[in-house]
Amino acid sequence: VYARYWRDRMRVDRQIEGIERDAKREFLPILGPERGIFLERLVVDRRPCRIVEVGVLVGYAALRMARQLAPGCSLTGIEIDEEMLQRARRNVEEAGLDGQVRLLRGDALEVIGGLEDGIDFVMLDGQRSQYLAYLRALEPKLESGATVVASIDEGQAGAVSRYLDYVRGAERYRSEPYPFGGDALEVSCFLG
Ligand SMILES: C[S@@+](CC[C@H](N)C(=O)[O-])C[C@H]1O[C@@H](n2cnc3c(N)ncnc32)[C@H](O)[C@@H]1O
Repeated sequence: VYARYWRDRMRVDRQIEGIERDAKREFLPILGPERGIFLERLVVDRRPCRIVEVGVLVGYAALRMARQLAPGCSLTGIEIDEEMLQRARRNVEEAGLDGQVRLLRGDALEVIGGLEDGIDFVMLDGQRSQYLAYLRALEPKLESGATVVASIDEGQAGAVSRYLDYVRGAERYRSEPYPFGGDALEVSCFLG
């Protein structure tokens, strides 16, 4: 049992490290190790069972979250770019996590409508100016107590200002930023 656990763990580690190397070479805007490890920690602490990620790129953050899911739980990722989606599919398969990760192609604003209820963890990392629209579309499907994480890049506060006003001002959320250099992750709890 331990040998298998260790082999599976090493397999995901190798895949994550490979993506980090590719991202450096190709300037891919992945979340990166610092924020990635923080995100994993959130999944470990909050133990979600139905994760949705908007903006998967090549699957870096998806792998970090999915590896922490309990058996029987799953992550659904949405990606608009066909080429990136194919790369993400390959990475998820090679990491051995394809049993728990489902990747859907399309504009998140259209795809979200077809998702099932019961979402208890959301990672927003698609088009910044659309964060509020993604969240409003997801709200009817969120469990009370769901965690919503939004990636905020340095110098992009303008694009996400309506989103931040909403989660920080509305009675439906408790929300705070976690800074990583100039970037940040906004972590919000949906109160229902
Ligand atoms: C910053 S990258 C995501 C990085 C990824 N979360 C990670 O850390 O590995 C943003 C991604 O969002 C995708 N995207 C942008 N607009 C989108 C939309 N409307 N629906 C789905 N994906 C979208 C882009 O194609 C891009 O791959």
